[in-house]
Amino acid sequence: GMAEKSGYDHFMLKEIHEQPETVRRCITGRLNEADVHLDDVSLTAEQLEQYNKVYVVACGTAYNAGLVGKYAIENLARVPVEVDVASEFRYRDPIVDENTLVVVVSQSGETADTLAAVREAQDKGARVIGICNVVGSSIPREADDVIYIHAGPEIAVASTKAYIGMITVFYMLAIYFARKKDLLADEESKQLIKDMKALPDQIAGIIDNSEEKIKDLAAEYAQNENAFFIGRSVDNAVVQEGALKLKEISYIHAESYPAGELKHGTLALVEEGVPVIALATQPSVKEKTLSNVKEVKARGGVVTGVVFGGEEELEDLDYRFEIPETSEVLTSILSVVPLQLLAYYVAVERGCDVDQPRNLAKSVTVE
Ligand code: G6P
Repeated sequence: GMAEKSGYDHFMLKEIHEQPETVRRCITGRLNEADVHLDDVSLTAEQLEQYNKVYVVACGTAYNAGLVGKYAIENLARVPVEVDVASEFRYRDPIVDENTLVVVVSQSGETADTLAAVREAQDKGARVIGICNVVGSSIPREADDVIYIHAGPEIAVASTKAYIGMITVFYMLAIYFARKKDLLADEESKQLIKDMKALPDQIAGIIDNSEEKIKDLAAEYAQNENAFFIGRSVDNAVVQEGALKLKEISYIHAESYPAGELKHGTLALVEEGVPVIALATQPSVKEKTLSNVKEVKARGGVVTGVVFGGEEELEDLDYRFEIPETSEVLTSILSVVPLQLLAYYVAVERGCDVDQPRNLAKSVTVE
């Protein structure tokens, strides 16, 4: 009923609006000035040195969170990270041993394939850290360590606040590893932590500033049966989640690509009016993504960009959403928000059952 939705039309919209609070709860008590404290994880510097690989295993949105996790951990803690879907991992005799750290990610803690992956990894001698939301569920019970997201109950089938919570945990884990391995100087760490603490207000600001504009954009994009998302670096991880959100709830065929791959095939599908969403938050590769945007524009695509605020040279964008200044590595927590809202309003525009999309379940407890 309306009461549980606190006046929002759908649980998904309520949960998107709860995200500032999700991040706040997730970081509370875990960040001090220069260090991250994860009570539930007790890895020594020696143990961390011994891991030559991190394996992230999950399904759906949790898998997409793992793609951001790979970027964060490789970037800050300098250890190779492989991300795998649980239903692949469990059946292909994965190369995992006591020198592999396995991180499984699951909102519900009950996804059958992900739970099987925990057992597979442990059988092979790996230590397993679970990143989960539902307290006391199966995966936290079986994992060696657990880091709870503390996002509270998530009702909408399409995950939003749990995703934000998962990537927030990945950033904390990456900083934690990097500090233990002596790879992150005090000053750098303090800046990252300061920026993390600013994220809740920044998310709230993005929702406030973009929601009305997204409704207009949604009316235009809702007419299409295809949409493409592009990005580079961490943006390439975030667009994967943007495309998943759109297809899950609006039934538009949405695909994401690393921006540099566009011209190796997908560009053939871009014609007059095709929606393309381009994330260009990373200063080091922004120009490259913007030149891909030009290629799309030249073929009549309608481009929405997500960029840092105050940038001028973006005349190729038809629509533009700005995210406020933060550390380059952290942008995913901000840039995903307009993509969630876009998926939501497009689905509403198309008359879809947003909270209960056809054929999908909140938690997949059978194979
Ligand atoms: C289902 C849900 C997705 C979710 C996935 C993994 O497919 O519809 O939203 O991302 O399961 O769920 P988990 O609980 O393991 O995160």
